[in-house]
Amino acid sequence: MHYYRKSRIIDMVILKLPDEIEKLRTSNLIVAEILCELREKVKPGVTTRELDRMSEELSHKRRVRPAFKGYRGYPFALCTSVNGEVVHGLPSERPLISGDILSLDFGVDYKGYFGDAAITVPVGPVSVKAQRLMRATEESLYDAIHQARAGNRLGDVSAAVQQRVEADGFSVIRDFVGHGIGRSLHEEPQIPNYGVRGRGIELRPGMVLAIEPMVNEGSYRIKVLPDGWTVVTEDGKLSAHFEHSVAITENGPDILSLIQ
Ligand code: MF3
Ligand code: CO
Repeated sequence: MHYYRKSRIIDMVILKLPDEIEKLRTSNLIVAEILCELREKVKPGVTTRELDRMSEELSHKRRVRPAFKGYRGYPFALCTSVNGEVVHGLPSERPLISGDILSLDFGVDYKGYFGDAAITVPVGPVSVKAQRLMRATEESLYDAIHQARAGNRLGDVSAAVQQRVEADGFSVIRDFVGHGIGRSLHEEPQIPNYGVRGRGIELRPGMVLAIEPMVNEGSYRIKVLPDGWTVVTEDGKLSAHFEHSVAITENGPDILSLIQ
């Protein structure tokens, strides 16, 4: 359906036309499919460097460009964050071991339109605490997506993440946020994982949001390792991360990175 509007930019957010949303759906579906294929390869003994190489090969096969590689100098195609690593973990030759949890964050550029999504997966059997952390993080993402509708405010999305996460005694990262996505990987608005209902910009049809709760088992405090990329929990406890790119339509949230 088409909708009337005066400007393509409202509150600094670039609104997308329906045909642009379809292009973003294509790139996000490719991201989702690649994440699914990678998830199946995750098991003890596999290295995150192997998963990175696979993500490059799968991108090449689908004629898309891995969006992270070279972005602000990022040296890999995939972000692989293990256990106490929060986000932007660098793929390495260290084999995964049973009990690890692994976040896979991946993005592509397809004909100038970006896709971006992330999942956290268990490596073999993991602790009950790790399972609860992953479940709370993923559920907070879906609670947030439920709030991503026209007429709501950005604070409704942020508050939904925080409420679900803190209900389980976990904490949301303050220093990294979700973002708008479109012809750039990162667009306005910034989407914190904490906030107050009713505050912030009004959500409108045509906005496309990459919502990405980053959740710590313990304190929300983080530090960046000397490699300049890897974000880790300050207390060494676990962290999980899930992300979807979501279009706001007149008929509610439309998850572009979801395989139906
Ligand atoms: N999903 C992450 C983000 O939106 C991935 C970016 S990794 C980078 O920030 F290497 F591209 F920076
Ligand atoms: Co993102």
